[in-house]
Amino acid sequence: MEVRRVDPDDEAAFDGWYAVLRETDLERWPDFGGWSRREVHALTSATSGADAWQCLAAVDPSGVTVGIALCEVPQRDNRQIASLDVRVQPEHRRRGVGTAIVAQAERRLAAEGRTVLTSLVEVPAALVDAYPATPFARRLGFVAAQVGNRRHLVLPVASDRLARVRDEVARAAAGYRVVTFLAPWPAEYLDDQCELARRMSTDAPSGDVQFEEEVWDAARVEESNELLARQGVRKLVAVAQHVASGRLVAFSELALPQDHPHEAWQWATLVLREHRGHRLGLAVKLANLDYLATFVPEVRVVTTGNARENGPMIALNDMLGFEVVADGTFWQKERVT
Ligand SMILES: CC(C)(COP(=O)(O)OP(=O)(O)OC[C@H]1O[C@@H](n2cnc3c(N)ncnc32)[C@H](O)[C@@H]1OP(=O)(O)O)[C@@H](O)C(=O)NCCC(=O)NCCS
Repeated sequence: MEVRRVDPDDEAAFDGWYAVLRETDLERWPDFGGWSRREVHALTSATSGADAWQCLAAVDPSGVTVGIALCEVPQRDNRQIASLDVRVQPEHRRRGVGTAIVAQAERRLAAEGRTVLTSLVEVPAALVDAYPATPFARRLGFVAAQVGNRRHLVLPVASDRLARVRDEVARAAAGYRVVTFLAPWPAEYLDDQCELARRMSTDAPSGDVQFEEEVWDAARVEESNELLARQGVRKLVAVAQHVASGRLVAFSELALPQDHPHEAWQWATLVLREHRGHRLGLAVKLANLDYLATFVPEVRVVTTGNARENGPMIALNDMLGFEVVADGTFWQKERVT
């Protein structure tokens, strides 16, 4: 068996790689779309950007792809880190394929100067006891640097629950104006958008994960817009503007994968520290859920992930009706050589 880099534009090799990704996604999430081929192809074939994504495949002597890795290699900041997602076809497990993939990834990534590897693994509650990720990660020297949960919000949200949230927001959010729009963000918000993204990169609790602040500028915003367009992913955005200063001080984004029209992903939500305590987090999330209900009423479920120590965000999600569906662990291995 050989572990090799896959060129996303080599259709046969990429099909073999994608088949493993899809099959192992279905193992955990049979009712969800996971990565579509178009989304992951756009990601891995991008030649410039803040993140480089690489595909590795373990191919047996008959040419069958038996295991894969998807590696994310930040280019503009966090240049000490890389992250890995490793999958092996169920019928080929416990034969050293996963170990060989990680060893090859470590060699390649260390040669690019990476000293810390991370891997986020989410396991549905019903599978936690039998799932191989935990013993595998520990065996290979990874430690749990942060734990949390995936949550789902089934839509539509009950009207009495929404009414309670609306009352809460109306009482607290005076002095701020909430605006929603379909991304890209309007050009006049560019400075505030970059500042919010920069602050977002370190304000959410990160446990022991060795993550540094991200650098955001107009070029990075543009790259990210182009990538989403190629992936067929739209984004609904809600922002809160501080009326007195005109600055944007909170935002929340929902991603809508066109390849899976019944699903939405809750991406970043942030309230700048100096504006916390006014229910702005709830205000922007509520505004975006209202926008979602009118703009794409066919969405049936919103998925989000929260670190276990992120009490304020979990409390907010509880109010909206999100429920825990999976455990999530950020595995980390330091001093990769
Ligand atoms: C986790 C996964 C990648 C392991 O792939 P694999 O090819 O079976 O791994 P290896 O054969 O190299 O296993 C290496 C060691 O990990 C441990 N391990 C792996 N699977 C295990 C399991 N089901 N139970 C207990 N230990 C396990 C063992 O110590 C094993 O060595 P051994 O077989 O000599 O006892 C594979 O099970 C998989 O694709 N799971 C679904 C996706 C996933 O969880 N990915 C995240 C990985 S962090």
